[in-house]
This record gives sequence, structure tokens and C-alpha cells, in this order.
Amino acid sequence: MAKRTVKDLDVAGKRVIVRCDFNVPRKDGKITNDNRIIQALPTIKYLIENKAKIILMSHLGKVKTEEDKAKNDLRCVAERLSELVDTKVSFVPVTRGAELEDAVAALQDGEIVVMQNTRYEKGESKNDPELSAYWASLGDLFVEDAFGSVHRAHASTAGIPSILPNALGFLVEKEVKMLGAAVDTPQRPFIAIIGGAKVSDKIAVVDNLLKKADKVLIGGGMAYTFLKAKGYPIGKSLVEEDKVELAKEYLAKAGDKLVLPVDNVCADAFAEDANTKVVDSESIPADMMGLDIGPKSVELYRDALQGAKTVVWNGPMGVFEMKPFAQGTLAVCTAISELPDATTVIGGGDSAAAAIQLGFAEKFSHISTGGGASLEYMEGKELPGIAVISDK
Ligand code: 3PG
Repeated sequence: MAKRTVKDLDVAGKRVIVRCDFNVPRKDGKITNDNRIIQALPTIKYLIENKAKIILMSHLGKVKTEEDKAKNDLRCVAERLSELVDTKVSFVPVTRGAELEDAVAALQDGEIVVMQNTRYEKGESKNDPELSAYWASLGDLFVEDAFGSVHRAHASTAGIPSILPNALGFLVEKEVKMLGAAVDTPQRPFIAIIGGAKVSDKIAVVDNLLKKADKVLIGGGMAYTFLKAKGYPIGKSLVEEDKVELAKEYLAKAGDKLVLPVDNVCADAFAEDANTKVVDSESIPADMMGLDIGPKSVELYRDALQGAKTVVWNGPMGVFEMKPFAQGTLAVCTAISELPDATTVIGGGDSAAAAIQLGFAEKFSHISTGGGASLEYMEGKELPGIAVISDK
């Protein structure tokens, strides 16, 4: 059954707590990419227009020490948000107490309070019942719009909505619709492309997508554990020795559904200025490491993509941050973006960063804002921040 969305709530004059994922990258205290704030705007603007009293909550970074608190102060997000909306935005630098309660009590319809980083509270990641009840007491309604955090059963993502009447925000609604259309009800042929450094991070995704996709193309550092499992020499390439047997099992059961690179850009060091050479996957020299898929693999993957109606991509094909090893990721990104008639979804994290950095932000049907959350979605896991939301 479909989940309730913010449009199903009567928000006028109500105190509406919205859990956003404002966990944005920063350098020297300045936000370097505000995409997650931008993506939260449809829900926030809807609530402004519909005269809710809006209380925004989010985590920012990991907070373990007092020093982490200073590094992960949410004020920069409130400041950026205030430039993007046409209403009063007040930042409250605490996560409980009179200052917070007074700011909420003073809210006029359509105004916003941004509470300090939820992770200033130790109970947040423990889904502490006392903390959930306290935060819930600040609102009348709850809206889940933090797609990047819905895989976390924390007080602000799962605790509060277990107490207050709740609904999904527009961002989570869109993410679930797009990821669901790709992974759960794909138009065929359905091709999945999975890359990234480690087999251990991605094996559950590969496992689930092998059941659903017509082909799963492998790239990135994890490819070398698979190539080793095939009995090929992999030189100094990244390998997870303890996953070689598992990779063998997958190769045996998946047959030609699982496609590995046939050649690689190899380097004599993990460095931008290393000596490089393109080598077939059977013959990586002992003193070199594979850092990208090679041109024959690009052709193979491009061919496999032809005619695809659904493509899901997660994880870069190589070390795209270094120019000599960015070609595979760039070529796959280009090939996906040129498909005339396909639903194309990037499952967040590194591949989303790669696509955006390489200038492809507008060329996909959907680029997820979730990293871990979209991975867990693609693994077929239940996401606690969504499961807790009431059905229509
Ligand atoms: C993310 O960036 O993936 C989300 O904001 C979740 O962050 P977390 O891994 O620190 O919970």
C-alpha cells in the first residue's frame, strides 16, 4: 500500500517537524555542494505556502567528541537555506531546552526554525525513547524527507514518527518512486552497473540485482577480486582475499549475467603521475595495479547497454578523481546518458558525485541523494525511516 505523503496532512497552523538530510559536504566551514538543501526545498516550500509552523531537523557529519560538535554545527545550513526561501529562518544552536522551546512557540505560520545538529544528542543514534518523546513534544505532525538517512533507525528518523501522525515528504516520495520503478518494476532489458572499491560493500547489491536485472556489469576496485576468483593474475590491484571464494560462488551461479572488465588501465603506483598501460584482464603484470576499466571493456559495456530500458548505476568504474583513471567512469556515464529511451537511475554516493562532477547532473532520470540509503534500497532491505510512516 502507498505511504501517506505531506499532501495527506492538514498542516495549516500546525507545528510540523521535518527530518531533512542536510548532511552536506563542507570545506573550511563552507558548504561545497548544497544539492541536499536544494532537494529538500519542494517540501519546505509546500509547508511555507500551506502555512505550517516548520521545525527542521537534520544530522551533520559524525559527532563523537566535543570537538566534532564545533566541526559539525548546522548553522551554515540554516544560513544557506535562508537564502533559498522567502520566509523567516531562525537557527537554534541547541537540541533541547528553553531556547528551542521558545523559538518553536514564537513561530508564525509559514516560518522556519532549524534546530542544531541532531547528533549533538547521544540518544539520537540509539533511537532513545526519552529523546524521541521530547522532540515529538515540539511538534504536531512529522514529515520524513531525509532520504539519505532513512536506513538509520535513529530518534529523529524513526523515533519521532513512531509517536506523531506522519507522512513522507516529496523528496522521499520521489526517491522511492524512481528507485522502485528501476529496481522493483523495471522495463526490460534492465542493466545494472556496479562499481566501487570493495566487494564487501557491494555484494548484497550485486546479489539482489542479479535476481532482478538482465545483466550486471562490474567495474572499480571490486572487479579485481572477481578477476582473481577467475584465476587471473591481478598484480598489485586492490583485492579482498577473504572475498575471493564468495566471488567464485557468484561467478558460478550468475554465469554470463555477471560481466567483468576485459581490459584495464594499469599503473605502477596509486598516483596521478604514475606510469600507465592498458592490459587485458588475463595478463595484469605483477608490478602493476588496475585503476580503471580499459577501452575494450568500455565498448563491451556500451554494447551491453544498447536497447536498455532501465539502467541502475552505483559505484565508479575506476579512480575517477585522478584524470588518467577517469575515462572508464566518464565513458559509462556518457553511454548511459545517451540511451534514447531508458529510465536511468544513479544510486547515490560516489557515482552520483562522479556524474555531477563530470557534468551529467541533468542527463539522468534520477540521481539519488542517498548513499547508504540507496544501497540498502538496492539490496532489497526494509528502510526503517520509511517503514515507520503510515499507509494512506
Ligand atoms: C549520508 O551522507 O549517507 C547520510 O547523510 C547518512 O549519514 P551517516 O552515514 O553518517 O548516517
